[in-house]
Amino acid sequence: MSRLLSDLGADLPLLAAPLAGGPSTPELVTAAARAGGLGFLAGGYKTAQALAGQIHSTRAEGVPFGVNLFVPNPVPVSDEAYRRYARSVQAEADRYGLTLPPEPIEDDDHWSDKIDLLTSAPVPWVSFTFGIPDRALVSALRRAGSTVLQSVTSADEARRAAASGVDALIVQAPAAGGHSATLTPDRPLAPVRLPDLVASVRSAVALPVIATGGIATATDVTAALRAGAEAAMVGTVLLRTHESGASAPHKAALVDPAFATTTVTRAFTGRPARALRNHFTDRFDALAPAGYPALHRLTGPLRKAATAAGDTRLVHLWAGTGHREARAESAADTSERLAGRM
Ligand SMILES: Cc1cc2nc3c(=O)[nH]c(=O)nc-3n(C[C@H](O)[C@H](O)[C@H](O)COP(=O)(O)O)c2cc1C
Repeated sequence: MSRLLSDLGADLPLLAAPLAGGPSTPELVTAAARAGGLGFLAGGYKTAQALAGQIHSTRAEGVPFGVNLFVPNPVPVSDEAYRRYARSVQAEADRYGLTLPPEPIEDDDHWSDKIDLLTSAPVPWVSFTFGIPDRALVSALRRAGSTVLQSVTSADEARRAAASGVDALIVQAPAAGGHSATLTPDRPLAPVRLPDLVASVRSAVALPVIATGGIATATDVTAALRAGAEAAMVGTVLLRTHESGASAPHKAALVDPAFATTTVTRAFTGRPARALRNHFTDRFDALAPAGYPALHRLTGPLRKAATAAGDTRLVHLWAGTGHREARAESAADTSERLAGRM
């Protein structure tokens, strides 16, 4: 059993991925820990105060856990490209009586407030995605007692992460649901199988590796561990669990035969993300410029209204390739199944 996990008392090499936008709840993270693994709270899109509330609730359960943050790595979009795209998407928003932001809005997702929170009240694990924090921050978090993890999508990114002094890597294959962790979101994702990616990262750097992306069965978990990962991390397969805060339309769509495939698209947020193919991805994928977080802010009000109306044609239905395996059950049952105990 890897030191990485056993130091925290975890005995199951199965981690609940951070799932921003609602699915990751203190209940889901607690269930992952009680099953013998470990879970991550998703700090992305939250204010520091909202994140502090979730940390407080999880701490009160007395379980170890991690917190994930988006590192600002903006992809600026020109005013002209933004306006052109905004005009196209506005046509869909008209049906909801919404006026989408006509000019690009950029932000850093409350980065410094959340870093202040994590350095002043340290949590057991901190993980980063979208960008690599500087060495000084990594060492400040480690000095404060946190184990620091970095998401990477290639051997080259793994080398850069190792140079920043992190303790371990989360190696994400492009089969993963939701946003890619890629450091270069303006480039297409290279197709690679998770076990091959894990093997290539392990030959590039000496850090422990957690494998994620498309893991949905006990066989997938075994393949990731055989390739040299210390643990497997799952996201999509937890989305329909009782403890998940995913929206009802999202939960239903994951196993609805009407949604046959997933696709990687920047149509929703301006960063590549894997979602169920739907009307929005078909209509807008080819039109969307790269541009994060401006496109996230553009489509956000429409996605929120469509979710409330159960209109899955327009919702970002984040899903990894194993979405059909997601079940409406307790997260403990999902963990047991993935551990090969059911
Ligand atoms: C709904 C959803 C939200 C996600 N949010 C985050 C996030 O906030 N931070 C992060 O590092 N990864 C996020 N991811 C990616 C997951 O951490 C993980 O890499 C992915 O779910 C693994 O692939 P799988 O979905 O096939 O299991 C998200 C994925 C999904 C499906």
